[in-house]
Amino acid sequence: MIADSFIQELKTYCDVESVISSYVKLSRKGKNLVGLCPFHSEKSPSFFVYPQTQSFYCFGCGAGGDIITFLKKIENIEYIEAVKLLAQRAGVPLPEEAADDNRARMKARVLEINRETARFYHQCLVSPQGAEAYHYLIQRGRTPKIIRRFGLGYSPNNWDTVMNHLRGKGFQDHELEASGIGVRAKSGSLYDRFRGRVIFPIIDLRGNVVGFGGRALEDRGPKYLNSGDTMVFKKSKNLFALNFAKATKSEQLILAEGYMDVIAIHQAGFDNAVATLGTSLTEEQARLISQYTDTVVIAYDSDGAGQAATKRAINIFSEVGVKVSILSIPGAKDPDEFLQKYGPQRFQMLLEGCANALEFEIGKIKAKYNIQTPDGKVSYLKEFAKLMAGIHNPLEREVYISEAAQSLGVAAEAINAQVGALLKKEQRSANKKEQNDTNIYIGDMAAGRGDLQRKKYLKYAIAEERIIGVLLKNPDYLPVLLERIRPEEFVTDVNREIITLITGRIQAGRPAEPMALSESLSPEGMARVSGILANAPAARSTREELEDYINILQEFYKTKTEKDVAQMDSSQLREYIQSLKDKKK
Ligand code: GTP
Ligand code: MN
Repeated sequence: MIADSFIQELKTYCDVESVISSYVKLSRKGKNLVGLCPFHSEKSPSFFVYPQTQSFYCFGCGAGGDIITFLKKIENIEYIEAVKLLAQRAGVPLPEEAADDNRARMKARVLEINRETARFYHQCLVSPQGAEAYHYLIQRGRTPKIIRRFGLGYSPNNWDTVMNHLRGKGFQDHELEASGIGVRAKSGSLYDRFRGRVIFPIIDLRGNVVGFGGRALEDRGPKYLNSGDTMVFKKSKNLFALNFAKATKSEQLILAEGYMDVIAIHQAGFDNAVATLGTSLTEEQARLISQYTDTVVIAYDSDGAGQAATKRAINIFSEVGVKVSILSIPGAKDPDEFLQKYGPQRFQMLLEGCANALEFEIGKIKAKYNIQTPDGKVSYLKEFAKLMAGIHNPLEREVYISEAAQSLGVAAEAINAQVGALLKKEQRSANKKEQNDTNIYIGDMAAGRGDLQRKKYLKYAIAEERIIGVLLKNPDYLPVLLERIRPEEFVTDVNREIITLITGRIQAGRPAEPMALSESLSPEGMARVSGILANAPAARSTREELEDYINILQEFYKTKTEKDVAQMDSSQLREYIQSLKDKKK
């Protein structure tokens, strides 16, 4: 890692204007500069450079960030290389030429630690101390062969067994801490993160063990505990068992909810199952999947939470252009249980007959009404028409409408008329909404991937962005925010990422201005930060303003409707229920 102070120093030598103008022809516009965006093709300039905040932002494509983001993007290089390039330009020597060598060496050490730990956990599982865990797996239907193939393990129920084992292998405490397998206690000593758990090693595409999931054997503590993010592991960018599934001959991947499901599916002979790692699907994971297949079968749990998560996943996959089929699992709560009860052939049948995303929705509406009665038919059609109005492809719409017309014994024209009316209404309100949006928010932060979410929760997203804007100018106000809202409570993913980072940095006494953020922030987060600065350069950023925006954000949690709740994934749901309980007390 490069010291903050060095980045600060670099910033005083290289200003954004001179760096960018060596790539883009800029002309002055008031305090700022404007030119043709180098990141998308355009005829009239919408690419702005802001010397005051040392950032850039394109109103056309949403690209934005600081000098480092700019260099990364235009030269297609990594953060560290961009810093080097900048240092070179400025003629400043890097503080430690070897900085990145050290990092690479440390990464290699962490991978060695992970590998050794996985080996050790597996040894423990098959030795007497792992008898209970081993028995648990066998009793849940796992075979010795699949246990070996997935390298499952057991973490002894002590505080320091693994630490001592690894020290004995020559690893040092700071390395153990970096691996996340050792956790630093307040007393300063290290203890084992995983204790008394069945262990699922997470292996990346190159075959490195990058992290672990651990399932509790008893009803104590969280049911699942996963590795935190480390220098070799990002939960949001990895998928469990993709190392196996990438080699499948099948044309599609199966996405399940949990480790146990994935292993059960592989054991049943389907080598194309993967799962997220204790979080709901991220866009990065969806994009990763899109590199291997253009069709995903979602095989989430059949409970409400699983269905809500399915809906979310459908949206994310449609963003990255992956076709989705939904596996409904009749008579069982998840694929694991289904396979236990009915076996692989029946599962194969499910796979073959599985409906696509839209059919899933239609099926759900159908189940709600008794379409044998006239009343039921009318209610069903009403909701069906709404669903159809959401389809943008007219051809696809026609297919479903004519099917429905046939099966219900009504004229297709009648349904078409309903859908047409809804479409018109939607168009009118979309026009109006667009106008409103531009009124409250000049400029368009389109293009970003997290944008769908931003649009959906626009009011809250804007409140979040203004809060971030205020804090960037007045880090002192952080306590005002934290007193009332936690960073985790930010509604949109990108803003949550930003506020979490800013909070952490301010609390650690590190600088939290845009330039300092680009090292850790995702490109999308960086673009958003620039968008925030670009869209409200002259905002007063007072404490009153901050309070106002916090009020708006708090509304989100107060006015949650049933519909919002239905869209939450299981962990959000758990959190929400907990928050209701807390309030009651
Ligand atoms: P079994 O109960 O062993 O069959 O596990 P499961 O995979 O069926 O569990 P469940 O359906 O409850 O959860 C699905 C996935 O969500 C798990 O595999 C975990 O990745 C994740 N998960 C479940 N509980 C927790 C938890 O308490 N903490 C975290 N971080 N993740 C969890
Ligand atoms: Mn299960």
